[in-house]
Amino acid sequence: MKHPDLERNIDAAARLICSGKLVAFPTETVYGLGGDATNPSAIASIYEVKGRPSFNPLIIHVPSIDIAEKLVKFSEQSKALAEHFWPGALTLVLPRRQNCPVSLLAGSGLETLAIRIPENEIALNLLRKAQVPIAAPSANKSGSVSPTTANHVRNSLRDDIDLIVDGGACKIGVESTIIDMSAENPCLLRAGGIPLEDLEREVGNIQVLGKRQQVLKAPGMLSRHYATQIPLRINAKEIHDGEALLAFGGRTLGKAVAVCNLSRAGDLNEAAANLFDMMRQLDKPEYTGIAVMEIPEVGLGRAINDRLRRASY
Ligand code: TXA
Ligand code: MG
Repeated sequence: MKHPDLERNIDAAARLICSGKLVAFPTETVYGLGGDATNPSAIASIYEVKGRPSFNPLIIHVPSIDIAEKLVKFSEQSKALAEHFWPGALTLVLPRRQNCPVSLLAGSGLETLAIRIPENEIALNLLRKAQVPIAAPSANKSGSVSPTTANHVRNSLRDDIDLIVDGGACKIGVESTIIDMSAENPCLLRAGGIPLEDLEREVGNIQVLGKRQQVLKAPGMLSRHYATQIPLRINAKEIHDGEALLAFGGRTLGKAVAVCNLSRAGDLNEAAANLFDMMRQLDKPEYTGIAVMEIPEVGLGRAINDRLRRASY
């Protein structure tokens, strides 16, 4: 890490985390609101700041597989996934070890923990310096659009947290893919930054749960998550009066009061990186709503469509 200011900020962030305070930091997916995962009162403040129901368990971030192994039990298959995709936008749900130091509150008292190694130098440095696992949900109020820049975080949480480490825009822009590896068969709990197809190439078929089952198994998957303030409509074929357009690809639907294009080239990775920022840009009370053009249900398109469906009414 070359920039001395950034380096100092990461040091300060590590100290704050160790003293039970909260820090927002960048990851390759979205900005996280981090606290010491072993400190129940830090975890309680995360829930408080997010305004999140406390039955919703958090993702635990670690800097290495060795450290992950101290917290949870890996099967052969989950080890293979970890080795192939970590650091990266994959969260594995695995059984807690008996002596796991992570606060029960962070895992909502479940027998399992959701865990990942983020692929972002700032996040990794912070984790190495803090020397504690960091619990981090997305750094936004519960039920609103996830932050992909430090400014997004500032706008929603400025008064509630001690420090925001600015690492620029997040490379991927949607949250990690969550796979439950604690049961007999791998099972997708949340589509995200690593496409399902890539994971299946490593471990074969991954069960995809229906929406109701997803919510039961990953309580954070409540429907009105990721919501915009104004109505959002997916698979739009035309523009209604006063609507803004969230476009995808070379075509446009015309007559919108404002337009953002997720990717003119029709590139789903670019679209994911732009998604939450553009949802915010178009989320203005003077528009009647946001019309979103159809996005193909492949690769990162699954995660994009999942977030858009949740934000739509
Ligand atoms: O990309 C990400 O994953 C971001 C960055 C900051 O790493 N984090 C994130 O965390 O999205 P959060 O707290 O917003 O989402 C956590 C999700 C929720 O849907 C929750 O229900 C699920 O993980 N989860 C956590 N622990 C679980 C467990 N033991 N079993 C099943 N689902 C779990
Ligand atoms: Mg979130």
